[in-house]
This record gives sequence, structure tokens and C-alpha cells, in this order.
Amino acid sequence: PFYTTMFGLSELEEKIQTAFGLPQVIVVAGDSEQSVQTKRELGRAACQVLRKVMEPGDVVAVTGGTTIEQVANQLTTSAPLKTNWFVPARGGLGESLDYQANTIASTMAKRTGANYRLLHVPDHLGEEAYASIMQEPNIREIVDVIRSARIVVHGIGDAKVMARRRRLKPELLDAMTRDGALAEAFGYYFDREGRVVHQMQTVGLRLDDIVKTEVVIGVAGGKSKGEAIAAVMRFGHNDVIVVDEAAALEIVSII
Ligand code: F6P
Repeated sequence: PFYTTMFGLSELEEKIQTAFGLPQVIVVAGDSEQSVQTKRELGRAACQVLRKVMEPGDVVAVTGGTTIEQVANQLTTSAPLKTNWFVPARGGLGESLDYQANTIASTMAKRTGANYRLLHVPDHLGEEAYASIMQEPNIREIVDVIRSARIVVHGIGDAKVMARRRRLKPELLDAMTRDGALAEAFGYYFDREGRVVHQMQTVGLRLDDIVKTEVVIGVAGGKSKGEAIAAVMRFGHNDVIVVDEAAALEIVSII
């Protein structure tokens, strides 16, 4: 173990589960910000969860990011998942190719013998571009598939880090910070209480879809993400959260 904790991992899981009223919490040892090995472990734990919940015919929507990339790179199955589909949760051409949602969806499908559909649109769009892209029958069709997902696997980020990674205008970042933006997940920015304070104009899954999705799996780690993860848990629509010990300790210290 990397930490000398007062709690065992299962005790951390229980504390978080009770505090946030979550059906399932998984904590892996270590700090994924410090160790690649821990980040892989986080990915592996999420793979186990995903394999357990997936049923024939399921559509699985995935977000981008380096954490979900670790899930994709380790996903395996004993038999090909011929009736399943992996799709990006949103258009994500803003992110680096390696960990774009499109890349992650196709990697997962290829590794498991499943099917995939891609969404080739930028991550954030102006109102006009959004309106005209949504007129495209091809885009509408894939968006319908995405919005029908029974399972969502998503990363969680710190609002400021994500705003920079997405090159949001400084004025917008300032306004969001004033509104208390702390966390980001699936294109939405949340404050400490889990209230949405900003959203990206984006094609794909929307908040009302997340609310309705049967199985929402959040995967994130690192001490610096503790508060962000807690904020997304307060939003309250996760069924499973997979975190590392460093994030879990941070979360426990603020509940
Ligand atoms: O941009 C996709 C995304 O899943 C965000 O919603 C999230 O905040 C971020 O990536 C997490 O990225 P990482 O796992 O690299 O920290």
C-alpha cells in the first residue's frame, strides 16, 4: 500500500457509500496521480464492474479522458459481445485523439468483439452550428443510439483543469469559478453541492438522459479530484463509483 491509512479499503468504501447513498463504491489502493500502476488498477476494477452489468443488446456510452482510456485498454471478455454497442457519450473532437470518447468506444468494441458507432463532431459548438448539425439525419440517428444507452461509463475531472484542457475562454472560466464550478463530468460543470452551474453546447448525452440511464458508472482517482468526485456524487445519479484510495481519503475528509 502507498498509504498508511486509518481505514481499510472496504471501510472507506462503506463510509462513502453511506454518506452519498450510493449502491456501490469500489476503492483501489494507491494514488493514480502518482502511479501508473494504480491508474491501471482503477481501469481494471471498472472493467470488472462493466462486465458484470452488461447484458446482451446493451448500448454502452463512454466518455473520454485518460482514466476511461485505462478502462478501454484492459477490457476483455471470454466470448465476443456480438449484440453490444459501444458509443461515445458526446462528440469529443476537442480532446487528444488517444483519449477521445470515439477512440475509447472503438477500442472497447474491438477488444470485446462488439459493435461501435462514432460521432464526428466537435465537443463544443456555437448555437448555430449546433442547430444545423442536429438537422443532419446521420447525426440524429447516432445521437438517438447514444441517448438510448442503458449503461454510461464516465470520467470525472476538476472544473478548472477541464476548462483549460478544453481551452474555454478565460472570461467563461472566471464566471464559472464565481458560480462555484468545482467538478466536470459528461460536459456538465457542477458546484460543491452537485448543482449544474454550466454546460457545454454539445451533441450526445444530456443531463436528462443521465438521470434516466439505468447504470451510471463513474471512474476517477487522485487526491486532487476528491472534491470533484464528491460534487458529482452529490449530483446523485451514479450507481457505481470506482475511485482510488487517495481520492477516497480526500472524500472522507470532507463529508
Ligand atoms: O473530456 C472527457 C472527460 O471524461 C471529462 O468529462 C472528465 O472531466 C475528464 O475527461 C476526465 O479526464 P481524466 O480521466 O484524463 O482525468
